[in-house]
Amino acid sequence: MSEQIHQTFNIVLVGQRSVGKTSILLRFVDDEFIGNTNATIGLDTRDVNVEIDDQFVTLHLWDTAGSELFSSMPSTTYRRADGLMIVYDCTDLISFEKVQEWLITVRKYAPEDVQIMLIGNKIDLITQRQVSTIEAKNYADKHGFDFIETSAKTSDNISSAFEILTRSILQKSEERLIQPPPESPPVIVDEPNHSFGKPKKCCER
Ligand code: GTP
Ligand code: MG
Repeated sequence: MSEQIHQTFNIVLVGQRSVGKTSILLRFVDDEFIGNTNATIGLDTRDVNVEIDDQFVTLHLWDTAGSELFSSMPSTTYRRADGLMIVYDCTDLISFEKVQEWLITVRKYAPEDVQIMLIGNKIDLITQRQVSTIEAKNYADKHGFDFIETSAKTSDNISSAFEILTRSILQKSEERLIQPPPESPPVIVDEPNHSFGKPKKCCER
């Protein structure tokens, strides 16, 4: 056990059904890929402790249902979000087009300064690609989002996605901390599950 003052950030994963939100989360938290995940019903949450730039951070991850049939996400989940991952499937153009709809909901409920990352998942399915990297990158740039392509199956960029978004959230929270809140007692956390270490060249923003 190590004693650290740490912050907790809420990160919400949204996107159309079957784009791989649950698979991304499971790959990051448990380092496993289940080929036949069930559709998420309602909301699932997982906590993970990470170390980033010598800071200990707890990520409270919210896995949402992409299917309207199973969706019951209260607007409070958005309101509490520090970070949002809007996920689409690189092999499914419609899931990319739907990003715009998710964005409308996000803009409606989430805090104005929420950090948003656009994620194109399933890059391992090379021959089935329907959304080009450049098209998605241009979209993300236009909106000022972080952008990354991942594969929950092969694990490509999964850790980097969380690292980049956490770094963006930390940066934003440091800006807010210029006006420190009233003192609260330090919180003791377990050893982190993930250590991101020092910033890598590829992740500099
Ligand atoms: P909902 O909970 O219904 O919103 O879906 P979801 O976005 O959580 O998708 P889920 O993680 O359940 O994955 C849907 C299907 O895509 C499953 O069969 C996964 O095995 C598969 N899948 C997820 N990520 C990848 C990936 O990176 N590559 C490949 N090839 N398949 C993936
Ligand atoms: Mg799911």
